[in-house]
Amino acid sequence: MTNSNSLFFRALNKERLKTPPIWYMRQAGRYMPEYRAVRKKFNNFLDMCKNPDVCCELALQPINAFNLDAAILFSDILTIPDALGLGVNFVENEGPVFKNPINNSKDIDNLDLFDPDELQYVYQAVTNIKNSLSDNIPLIGFSGSPWTLAAYSIEGKSSKDFKKTLNFINKNNDKSHTFLNALTDACFLYLREQVKAGADVIQIFDSWANILDENRFNEFSMQYINKLTYALKNDKVTSKTPIILFSRDPKCSNQTLVKNSGADCLSLYWDMKDFDLNIARNKVSLQGNLDPRILLEPKDKIKYQTHKILDKFKDYPGYIFNLGHGITPDINPDNIKYLTEVVREY
Ligand code: CP3
Repeated sequence: MTNSNSLFFRALNKERLKTPPIWYMRQAGRYMPEYRAVRKKFNNFLDMCKNPDVCCELALQPINAFNLDAAILFSDILTIPDALGLGVNFVENEGPVFKNPINNSKDIDNLDLFDPDELQYVYQAVTNIKNSLSDNIPLIGFSGSPWTLAAYSIEGKSSKDFKKTLNFINKNNDKSHTFLNALTDACFLYLREQVKAGADVIQIFDSWANILDENRFNEFSMQYINKLTYALKNDKVTSKTPIILFSRDPKCSNQTLVKNSGADCLSLYWDMKDFDLNIARNKVSLQGNLDPRILLEPKDKIKYQTHKILDKFKDYPGYIFNLGHGITPDINPDNIKYLTEVVREY
């Protein structure tokens, strides 16, 4: 059992803490030489994710290197589209490429029903990681948001503007909602299995919230995040599991994010500098907000910007230190070590 007195749980319980718990989005990844040494052995990134022992080793690498306060499952958000038969591959320097993306409304009619058992390899990774962690380090399980999973599934790859996706939802409103409902059910079942396997906390990544205007954000993204968190909060297995939402720069009010998401904690993108802490205070915990690109600067600049963030959140009840988006491959691991020290010494 994870100790509910761990720093991470205390912050999720909206306690005001002297030193915030620390973890980093993409804390396991290519910026670490230890990761690259393991990654070399696999051609396809998803093949590596399908090996629970390797996932365990990778999830522990940043915990051991930087003594962080929470671990995150090593996997990817695109396991669900892969299980739906969309054929996800990771191509060097290009990111994910789908063999069978959603091209028309018939493709949605013909989709396989999501079978959570197909992702046993993920739950096994959760259990292995959990068994290897000490009691005071909680484990975060995760999924993409229904909208972000739909966007990748329709676009078929990463994109700057997701033009194909935006066109598709304009032309196929009903079928888009059918698809989003199916993805919401899949995310629920998937996260429930992760919690059964040992995940202590859930994070939902709405990484492409930013491409929707306010109306469409509420219709295609927030509505389904709300359905998902509602289902989780009303299920015996998951009702007590804290939920963190990372919504990348959504075009909605702060009030909507706090009230409608159903999340216990909001993970703030680095560009959400004007987020109103008073609207969130005592309602949700907050996480993140530091621009990851700061980590490419000299140490004095890293310290200055980190202190600015810590000053901003120092009286906030329930702040978790993190970056405003993931660690990129060009970041020097020494700077992650330095950043962690700066936060703990503040
Ligand atoms: O420590 C961790 O956070 C590891 C677990 C993790 C990965 N991806 C591993 C990964 C998590 C939580 C994710 C989430 C994820 N995956 C998101 C949401 C977070 C965000 O960045 O907004 C998204 C959008 C994806 C989809 C994805 N996976 C893309 C677009 C790419 C290619 C681009 C890139 O950064 O490489 C991936 C690949 C991926 N996922 C890698 C890792 C370590 C790198 C793959 C490699 O080594 O070749």
